[in-house]
Amino acid sequence: MGTRRVADILKNAQPDEKVTIKGWVRTKRELKGFSFVEVNDGSSLANLQVVLDSQIPEYENLLKKINTGASVEVTGVVVASQGKGQRIELKANTLTVYGEADAETYPLQKKRHSFEFLRTISHLRARTNTIGSVFRVRNACATAIHKFFQDKGFLWIHSPIITASDCEGAGELFSVTSLDFKNIPKTETGEIDYSQDFFGKPAYLTVSGQLQAEVMAMAFQNVYTFGPTFRAENSNTSRHLAEFWMVEPEMAFCDLEGDRNLAEEFLKYIFKYVLDNCPEDMEFFNKWIDKSILATADNIINNEFARITYTEAISLLEKAKKKFEFPVEWGIDLQSEHERYLAEDLFKKPVIVTNYPKEIKAFYMRLDDGGKTVAAMDVLAPKIGEIIGGSQREERLDVLEKRIQESGIEVDSLWWYLDLRRYGTVPHAGFGLGFERLVQFMTGMTNIRDVVPFPRTPLNAEF
Ligand code: 4AD
Ligand code: MG
Repeated sequence: MGTRRVADILKNAQPDEKVTIKGWVRTKRELKGFSFVEVNDGSSLANLQVVLDSQIPEYENLLKKINTGASVEVTGVVVASQGKGQRIELKANTLTVYGEADAETYPLQKKRHSFEFLRTISHLRARTNTIGSVFRVRNACATAIHKFFQDKGFLWIHSPIITASDCEGAGELFSVTSLDFKNIPKTETGEIDYSQDFFGKPAYLTVSGQLQAEVMAMAFQNVYTFGPTFRAENSNTSRHLAEFWMVEPEMAFCDLEGDRNLAEEFLKYIFKYVLDNCPEDMEFFNKWIDKSILATADNIINNEFARITYTEAISLLEKAKKKFEFPVEWGIDLQSEHERYLAEDLFKKPVIVTNYPKEIKAFYMRLDDGGKTVAAMDVLAPKIGEIIGGSQREERLDVLEKRIQESGIEVDSLWWYLDLRRYGTVPHAGFGLGFERLVQFMTGMTNIRDVVPFPRTPLNAEF
């Protein structure tokens, strides 16, 4: 008989079974002749209620050590629970304390803590109900993503974290260097001499694995990346991180239509998977965080997303009764308030907006006939705004070269990317899903800092 997880015991164990669990004490209640100890091992939101009889050896001594936060091992017999709230409980035969937690200083006491406070103890907050549920759902989202693509025959590729190219061309790059800041080598003209740096040229943390995903799609047809990406944008919002995870599928022989169909199918699949696999956590979010979470999930799974062009979006925004902070006219980049108006107020479901003006989108997006717009696609979600950004890629060498030039990037630096258009080019498309924004959307958590274990934001890299 090995150790069993609490989730398994709560679901499957029958009275008279002998089991051992290991976990952390959430609460302790002393009554006459016995105590209740709630133990959580992270496998489920619910704790296992342990009954500790005062007859067990060292009872008084043990009780003193069993404070909230202490780690314990309990062996006992499963019994049907007399009380409400749980089917079974564990009558302890032996209880061992691994490590105590001082009641005076342990920061997580049995009361509601604000998410702001919990962020200051990110090393302990996973032991709370809400954050625990967040990370179980986050794990389920990741599993769903791999399952979705693997079942479709997509190859998971590992794009580099260190790169010399700025995929999005937005200049939001973190530099990677091994130069000595106290003694930076300079060229004759006074510039930093990168030839003496580790890679012999400027290098950065990647903002997106897309360019490398395109390379791999030209050999494997359908691929996806799933890994960390970095942006040095100084945005202190509830939807931006400096380090976040992105999922980027890339499909050869695919156009914008195929791209947005996949994005919709993908989101529906993940929501269904999480509802099926984390019902307890999702009910918790629906009860305590956002009362519309289950209805939203149902809406995602069962309704078609709205589909409009950028030009249609602008005209809908112009007709809106709502006053926007940023004025609306054709050519503007949609702001979060515009995106949320469309998804939240107008359509009340995700909206896929396509064909944006080329000036506000990246160089690699395919130029539409007419030359004013590109085959871009953003999926806008209620409460979140942009959750997915994607496009059909420019597969024509001459057009791409021109677009790169126009965006001020050195054409030669992308020689390998251009080679894909020289040798066996095909129409292709892909998108990027912001993983933390997905988890926010799924759980209703309002701040992105609370859906990633260790948030990296301006002025914050603690833990
Ligand atoms: O729209 P973005 O910038 O698209 C790309 O990077 C493309 N290369 C993707 C592709 O086509 N393969 O970013 C994609 C998504 C956004 O829609 C958003 O959900 C998320 O990444 N995102 C962020 N999430 C958290 N913090 C940030 N600072 C983010 N910036 C983008
Ligand atoms: Mg975008």
